Amino acid sequence: MTTVDGRRSTPIVDAEIATFERAYPAYAETHVLDELRTREYGRLDAQGHVYLDYAGGGLYGGSQVREHVDQLSAHVFGNPHSDNPTSAAATALVEEARAAVLSYFGAAPDEYTVIFTANATAALKLVGESYPFTPSGSLLLSADNHNSVNGIREFARARGAATSYVALTAPDLRVDEGQLIGLLDRAGGGDGRLFAYPAQSNFTGVQHPLSWIEVAHARGWDVLLDAAAFAPTNRLDLSRFHPDFVPLSFYKMFGYPTGIGCLIVRRSALAKLRRPWFAGGAVVVATVGGDAYHLAGGEAGFEDGTVNYLGLPAVTIGLRFLSAIGIDAVHERVRCLTGWLLDSLGALCHRAGDRLVRFYGPRTTEQRGGTVAFSVINPLGRAVDLRVIEPLAAASNISLRAGCFCNPGAAEAAFSVAPDVLVNVYKEPELLPLDLLVARLGMEGGGAVRVSLGAVSNVADVRACVQFVQSFLDTVPDESNLPPRQHC
Ligand SMILES: Cc1ncc(COP(=O)(O)O)c(C=O)c1O
Repeated sequence: MTTVDGRRSTPIVDAEIATFERAYPAYAETHVLDELRTREYGRLDAQGHVYLDYAGGGLYGGSQVREHVDQLSAHVFGNPHSDNPTSAAATALVEEARAAVLSYFGAAPDEYTVIFTANATAALKLVGESYPFTPSGSLLLSADNHNSVNGIREFARARGAATSYVALTAPDLRVDEGQLIGLLDRAGGGDGRLFAYPAQSNFTGVQHPLSWIEVAHARGWDVLLDAAAFAPTNRLDLSRFHPDFVPLSFYKMFGYPTGIGCLIVRRSALAKLRRPWFAGGAVVVATVGGDAYHLAGGEAGFEDGTVNYLGLPAVTIGLRFLSAIGIDAVHERVRCLTGWLLDSLGALCHRAGDRLVRFYGPRTTEQRGGTVAFSVINPLGRAVDLRVIEPLAAASNISLRAGCFCNPGAAEAAFSVAPDVLVNVYKEPELLPLDLLVARLGMEGGGAVRVSLGAVSNVADVRACVQFVQSFLDTVPDESNLPPRQHC
């Protein structure tokens, strides 16, 4: 028999789940999400998917897509850059989406505005290329950052600003707050100081304190809070916390649409940005003969070309969908399931007593989200190669991630790669073949396995994950004929 939450009912399974529900009683209050899964996400179970990559992309409910199609089918929308009726109708929807984003995040319209972009990366690039870095200024990054944040250092350097990283400390791979405050203090009073960190790590699931925003503000820094991995399963309340720049991608929050993200930006911080160019849509006027241009004010000056005006209504729909589910219920469910996943994987031991799983990141649900990174360790004490794990997961219809997840700082800390090794390896003029690179860095297995939970994860997903990992107990997989690595 299959129950409402998709698990097969047997005495052993029932006992396991009863233990889980005793350990995480709050889970019982989230059963509305099981009903939601049946109603909106039937395709997952109908096709036997075990989806464990919510950090890669959220999943959309069927009604989100239907509502969007109905809206497009019922109306005529033109390019918003003019005043004709179809254009005005599109403009109204774009502005509705902008207001919906502000309202969802509790951002006061006189304090914040929203710039629509293609994704979080494009939002980050807008900040990087426009932030007033100067030789007396600084960029401070947590070592735990997505590459789309790390890349800002190239803009900072090009304009002579000092760039530095605050390191991660083992075993939880959190930032040492003392070191952070020391670095925030050390920069002195130069112009243009930006501190950038993720509210949640896309590698380890660590949630870095939002209280750092005010700590940095008090020392004269602007703060970029990368919310791409945090927003899908946590409440970000911008009436309580006041970061200057908040990039995110909507597909991570509610699956659909792809191709739209935004930069939620404090108006005071927006006023500091200096665009390096102008484009159609972003100017009030530009001349060829007069060699001049005037950027549009506010967010319009940062939205190059035509915004995705047919996609934006789906953002409004998605935000309404997520609000109706309730982000707090999602958060609680993900917390409970993550705790169970950590407990279950952490309890797996080979016959000789050695642990099967080595985690990268916190072992408890304290200040962490639903992203769990780990290596599977064989009975000889070596990490199983990702090229063994990935195809086996795929064969079980499990969608998980393997590698470094565009977060090299967290990966280097997870695998304890020494700074001098990194400097030597990257001194080579040519990029080494990835197999050689991974070997030189000492990244056993080629990186980590990443499992991430989201809005409609259920006990069956976690059980399937644990069963899959369990299949490596007391076996040494054959790693003799693996294909060359495609990524690390
Ligand atoms: C923390 C974080 N920041 C930024 C990004 C970049 O998002 P996108 O690829 O949608 O631009 C990601 C994507 O995984 C992420 O996890």
